[in-house]
Amino acid sequence: MSASSGPLLLQIRDLRTYFYSQAKQAFVRAVDGVDLAVFKGSTLGIVGESGSGKSITMLSSIGLVTSAPGVITGSVIFQDGDKPVNLLGGLPDYVYLEITDGRIMAVHKQQPQWMTRVRQNLKPYRGNNIAMIFQNPKAAMHPYQTIGAQIMEAIQLHTDIKDKVAARQMALNWLDRVQMDSPRLRFDNHPHGLSGGMCQRAMIAMALAAQPSLLIADEPTTGLDATIQSKIVDLLLELRQDLGITTILISHDISVIKRLSDDVAVMYGGRVMETGPAALVLDERNEQRHPYTHALLASTPRRANANAQGYLPAIKGEVCDNINIPAGCRFLSRCHAINDRVRDRCRRMEPELTVVAPGHQVRCWLRQEDG
Ligand SMILES: Nc1ncnc2c1ncn2[C@@H]1O[C@H](COP(=O)(O)OP(=O)(O)OP(=O)(O)O)[C@@H](O)[C@H]1O
Ligand SMILES: [Mg+2]
Repeated sequence: MSASSGPLLLQIRDLRTYFYSQAKQAFVRAVDGVDLAVFKGSTLGIVGESGSGKSITMLSSIGLVTSAPGVITGSVIFQDGDKPVNLLGGLPDYVYLEITDGRIMAVHKQQPQWMTRVRQNLKPYRGNNIAMIFQNPKAAMHPYQTIGAQIMEAIQLHTDIKDKVAARQMALNWLDRVQMDSPRLRFDNHPHGLSGGMCQRAMIAMALAAQPSLLIADEPTTGLDATIQSKIVDLLLELRQDLGITTILISHDISVIKRLSDDVAVMYGGRVMETGPAALVLDERNEQRHPYTHALLASTPRRANANAQGYLPAIKGEVCDNINIPAGCRFLSRCHAINDRVRDRCRRMEPELTVVAPGHQVRCWLRQEDG
């Protein structure tokens, strides 16, 4: 796989999505200033412990977080042909933030107006240029419609093929393409009549049938048994090579990320801690990596330390509390790489993402030149 560079398809800047916890009378800062870049034709893998904000980042980017306060800052620039479009454009007009000492203390949001605007912004793109596949395809697909009808609908809605017979043929082609066995038979099945792996294939077929330029896959193999997982990964790899589709892949499974990603972003506590070419971020010997990335991936290449499916091992310590976020580095309380030279800075100030090699950025005081 080529190292990523070249034109961008999607660029997320300063994305923040907060929820309000009634119980704690405070914000849950699910996504807290995320910056990400996705290059055309490449695959960006997003990793991070559970709760680090991976899903909410992507759902926010395509306007699918509907509860208030929800998305409160950020831009998501999508390259529509030669036209860059901000999918979150105009939304700051409906949000007023009360900030004290650089911290957001209160959010005033005109949620209905915000929702109307985000719907307008996303209407031309969602399910069309941008498709998403979810962890639980059965929940994401319509339960009372056959999978064939759902794929046909995606084709008729989002491509030039409007004729019923042609759309049916195209839907069958897609089912064949995702290696659905007996596509003609499966065409008339409802989602609940299919196994998990088959349903995931149907969902991928439905997403791709719209010929999107961006595919967002959130845990596409989680919950499937190991053989089916590996078949779905082979399929994604093949589709990627044949169609050159740009993909954002969220996965807990580092072996999946390794096989499919050109670039990797590592998230922790609603923030990107490290991002760059997969070859650098996933390289165990690379000493420029973030201590979190190191801990997260430490035992995966050694089979004995990983469980049978290659899932990420647990890191010692509590995951970042996304309500009481510390003033300094979010990873401080669990960091084993810290030394006396940086300790004070780590406590007081959160480091910025800093370039450590071409295309490779790390948010760590130890990786700053004078660290
Ligand atoms: N509607 C909500 N209300 C309150 N908190 C929420 C809501 N949705 C998500 N969160 C919180 O936001 C944080 C980020 O959630 P998110 O689903 O993005 O995590 P994730 O990285 O995708 O985790 P996983 O790997 O388990 O899927 C979590 O702490 C989660 O509990
Ligand atoms: Mg998730």
